[in-house]
Amino acid sequence: MTDAQAPRVLIVGLGMIGGSLAAALKAGGFAGRVVACDRDPDEIARGLALGVIDAGGTELADWVADSQLVVLAVPVLAMESVLARLAPLLDGQVITDVGSTKLAIRAAAERVFGALPARFIPGHPIAGSEKSGVAAANPDLYRHHKVILTPEADSDPAALAQVRAMWQACGAEVVDMAIERHDQVLARTSHLPHLLAFSLVDTLARQDERLEIFRYAAGGFRDFTRIAGSDPVMWRDIFTANKEAVIAALDDFEAGVARLRRAIVTGDDDAMLATLDRASHARHYFDTLLNKTRYQAMEQRNIRYRVSPGGGVRGTIRVPGDKSISHRSIMLGALADGVTEVSGFLEGEDSLATLQAFREMGVAIEGPHQGRVTIHGVGLHGLKAPAGPLYVGNAGTAMRLFAGLLAGQTFDTELTGDESLTRRPMGRVADPLREMGAVIETAEGGRPPLTIRGGQRLKGIDYDMPMASAQVKSCLLLAGLYAEGTTRVREPAPTRDHTERMLSGFGYSVHRDGDLAWLEGGGRLTAAPIDVPADISSAAFFLVAAAITPGADLTLEHVGINPTRIGVISILQAMGADIRIDNEHEVGGEPVADLRVRYTPLKGITIPEDQVPLAIDEFPALFIAAANAEGVTRLRGAAELRVKESDRLAAMADGLAVLGVDNTLHEDGIDIVGRRQGQGDEGASYGGGRIDSLGDHRIAMAFAIAALRAREPIVIDDCKNVATSFPGFVDLARRVGLTLDEEAS
Ligand code: S3P
Repeated sequence: MTDAQAPRVLIVGLGMIGGSLAAALKAGGFAGRVVACDRDPDEIARGLALGVIDAGGTELADWVADSQLVVLAVPVLAMESVLARLAPLLDGQVITDVGSTKLAIRAAAERVFGALPARFIPGHPIAGSEKSGVAAANPDLYRHHKVILTPEADSDPAALAQVRAMWQACGAEVVDMAIERHDQVLARTSHLPHLLAFSLVDTLARQDERLEIFRYAAGGFRDFTRIAGSDPVMWRDIFTANKEAVIAALDDFEAGVARLRRAIVTGDDDAMLATLDRASHARHYFDTLLNKTRYQAMEQRNIRYRVSPGGGVRGTIRVPGDKSISHRSIMLGALADGVTEVSGFLEGEDSLATLQAFREMGVAIEGPHQGRVTIHGVGLHGLKAPAGPLYVGNAGTAMRLFAGLLAGQTFDTELTGDESLTRRPMGRVADPLREMGAVIETAEGGRPPLTIRGGQRLKGIDYDMPMASAQVKSCLLLAGLYAEGTTRVREPAPTRDHTERMLSGFGYSVHRDGDLAWLEGGGRLTAAPIDVPADISSAAFFLVAAAITPGADLTLEHVGINPTRIGVISILQAMGADIRIDNEHEVGGEPVADLRVRYTPLKGITIPEDQVPLAIDEFPALFIAAANAEGVTRLRGAAELRVKESDRLAAMADGLAVLGVDNTLHEDGIDIVGRRQGQGDEGASYGGGRIDSLGDHRIAMAFAIAALRAREPIVIDDCKNVATSFPGFVDLARRVGLTLDEEAS
């Protein structure tokens, strides 16, 4: 806004809120004049002394004519009389206000003007302080805070733009909202908490007239009741002005307290825990929203990896728990009768999203704490309708498996995900589920969000999967638990069978014969302990790291070696890698072992197509092995890689090209030209450069290990999603010998 365009702003009511607006405009370099009118001459004098206003006085008539924008910052119940005094003075000025209830202010304006004037844009900055008066003015009060405007259909667009620009000049984020919704939302998020804080402090104070009790009150009391120190008159006005919505919010609250009271009285530990867990996680979620963080505090902003060339790969490590098994442990544990204890759970964002979704459906879950999770199963029919959409972040497995099990519930659900997941195909599960009788809506092209209608009668089907997908198979088997009759799924090639194994472990009989898996609906699951092995898909990065680095000797402990997951071992061995499988044993129905890898030179191979589904997530790492192998490595029959968290064929081809590795992309595969014959063992295999991981965790980690044989540093953008599957990757990479720096980006 230039000086000439900047409006002269008149703030009516120079208290903490109005004063902070003046101070913010001044601090933000607002080019217009800021004047104020307040019935208290001392406040005006203080405002002038503080330098937050250019001029001001006590008479409205002295200041309106010369102003273009009038901001009403008086208490809600004083609005009507101020508007009445303002009305005869107006000559096209834009009006806005800062009142925290909006319907009452619109009603006041209607009484004064006959209708809400088109140039009156009601507004409400969502920021405050328990302090009052202009002396408490804070120029940063609105910075990064929301300001809600409630324009009407016939509001003047130019007036709206002016009000919006004024708040933006204070560093605020301006959003529009329907006026009724504003009052309902604020009743719950602001007015109710204030009411409770006032009431609690008053109740305690009455019980102890000498206020002795407060001597013993500590942080909990202070945190909960800080806002009871706010201006009583203002809050009386707000409760009066927004009476209906406040009372509705209070009724809901009382019902919630009554539920918790009942749980305590009857000793219903599960109900108590369910409520407390849900609340605790909702509160953490709120923190992540406030701080714009995700589940894990460390991953606040996006992250860039800078990996120095070279390094060794030595030691003994254990990578985090298997992602597929972690998802399923929560799902089946929640649907089982009894308490399921999980150890080795992957505390990555994907599996945490699954865990959170079940909490939202009323399941009490303790943890995770160092990989331990306790799930208080509610039985196949014990889930409750969540209050809103279930957000599963980046997790394709969560969304597809949920689609199956939610199709069998009595309530409706909506499944949403992040940007990457929203691009991924869901028709592959929605179509066969519809054949079973499910009612599912998708966005265009079968993409998320998914809306699943509850209360449908599902029937078993015989389904020949068009693609080798464990997610589709698992989705249908989970829906089959709720279906009448038999659900049979045939797979074109073997895919991971964790769902079948875990169902059996929970006492549910699943039949398998060749490429067919089937079960009958109507049974029950019985809780059983689960020990989640280390994820072979995470181990793959370190298997390859050791396989490509001269002198490497690395042991990976307790890795899941389910035969449907070990394609990466078979393929690396076929390329000449030295991988020893030690200490094989079984935990909870899944085979595990320690894997020891020592460097030997690799050679390029044609990857057998039957290995593709068995190594489906490991190709980004395997392509790095191929880039370090002598000769060409050819992959076909892997079109599925194009619909993972990114188009992994294209993402890897682009990244390899940046490093100078020749490759040819095919519709369903890639040819990678590795090291030239005779190139010495010690040297680098390729250059460095800047890689875009496209937000795909496995692309990011693959190029991080590639640096072990690069000539120059490799810089990888958009690495925050590594936390979806492999929290702690950076630490482990450093521990074995990589030089990897993380930078905020
Ligand atoms: C998974 C199956 C695979 C895999 C994914 C996890 C599972 O997906 O890529 O990371 O847990 O069932 P598809 O079923 O799409 O092949």
